[in-house]
Amino acid sequence: MSKILKVAVVGGGIGRFHIVEGYQPFPELFEVTVLCDLDDARLESLGKEFSIPRLTKSFEEVLAMPDIDIIDVCTPPGLHKPMVLAALAAGKHVICEKPLAGSIADVDELIAAEKKSKGKLMPVFQYRYGDGVQKARAIIEAGIAGKPYLGTVETLWKRTADYYAVPWRGKWATELGGVLMTHAIHAHDLMVYLMGPVTSLFARVTTRVNAIEVEDCVSASWLMESGALVTASATLGSQEEISRLRLCFENVTFESNHEAYSPGDDPWQIIPANEAIAARIDALLRNWKPSGRRYGGQMPAFHAALTAGGPLPVTAADARRSLEMVTAFYHSSETGRDVGLPLSADHPKYHGWRPAAASAAE
Ligand SMILES: NC(=O)c1ccc[n+]([C@@H]2O[C@H](COP(=O)([O-])OP(=O)(O)OC[C@H]3O[C@@H](n4cnc5c(N)ncnc54)[C@H](O)[C@@H]3O)[C@@H](O)[C@H]2O)c1
Repeated sequence: MSKILKVAVVGGGIGRFHIVEGYQPFPELFEVTVLCDLDDARLESLGKEFSIPRLTKSFEEVLAMPDIDIIDVCTPPGLHKPMVLAALAAGKHVICEKPLAGSIADVDELIAAEKKSKGKLMPVFQYRYGDGVQKARAIIEAGIAGKPYLGTVETLWKRTADYYAVPWRGKWATELGGVLMTHAIHAHDLMVYLMGPVTSLFARVTTRVNAIEVEDCVSASWLMESGALVTASATLGSQEEISRLRLCFENVTFESNHEAYSPGDDPWQIIPANEAIAARIDALLRNWKPSGRRYGGQMPAFHAALTAGGPLPVTAADARRSLEMVTAFYHSSETGRDVGLPLSADHPKYHGWRPAAASAAE
């Protein structure tokens, strides 16, 4: 039996897409009963568009609403940590947009707060949801793909001055990073989702496309725990926007579709080494059940975990791994050295990845 969970969406930018893709199509699972935003025009237009009964500018008010099961934090990055802490302290389940927080120390604080709370915390990584990426993962997990050799991951997007007219963007204090933090974080998470953890990372980051504080071009080389190698590149100066992952395993080569914002969708190229491998893949995928895409995959999976008690589809530990990589990118670029992962509390950037030069300038 499924329970309809009541959701308060806080922040109506990307929050609108959470509603359109993740909640509205599943009335048997979710009911968005509250929208909270500081912007009157957004409150009014989204409230009307989705017939949301309660509209408020006060996050405090949301925290005190006894009937709300899930608080979905879709505010700018600098607000995530205090809002998630407050929501967990109020005993709510929490969904939080990326990045979960501004340092590994902050993520550890959130992990500790989740342990003490009645509520569960699910960071957003909606790119994991789509039949292409889910089929690739099923093939890898079934042991059919074999030994991982090499992967490439590209986030080649375009952002211009208009995008950076929104005041919180492009600044260390409020965006917390650039193309690594805001854009490539999804494709990098997908690569790890498929190829396993990174053990060491070398990177160069620079700002060449827009007049912003944070980086907009990145290249990197990762050594995976398995021994496989990955190259990663990301820019906000590509005239055609694509996201692309290509993964070479012993028995199968995978390539994602190139849709910039939904590379997890079907179709992926799945190229078997021979007919026997092709037959194993066919057998595995014969009765494939669509996974749902983007928020339409992740939100229902969260509902299932909450109501049936299974593991969360994305955990705070996943967000930690992703932000450890962000930290390592910046640290490597600053020091010109490889950075080993995972990062522990004695790492010089445990309390923040912001480059020393950017912190000194304030
Ligand atoms: N997962 C993804 O693909 C994806 C895509 C876009 C944005 N994001 C993330 O979502 C977050 C929001 O980004 P956005 O593009 O929607 O930004 P945005 O600026 O368009 O929207 C943020 C909204 O939050 C509201 N807000 C700010 N402070 C508030 C407060 N104290 N209480 C209530 N509302 C408040 C603002 O009024 C605004 O409407 C960021 O962390 C961003 O990185 C994720």
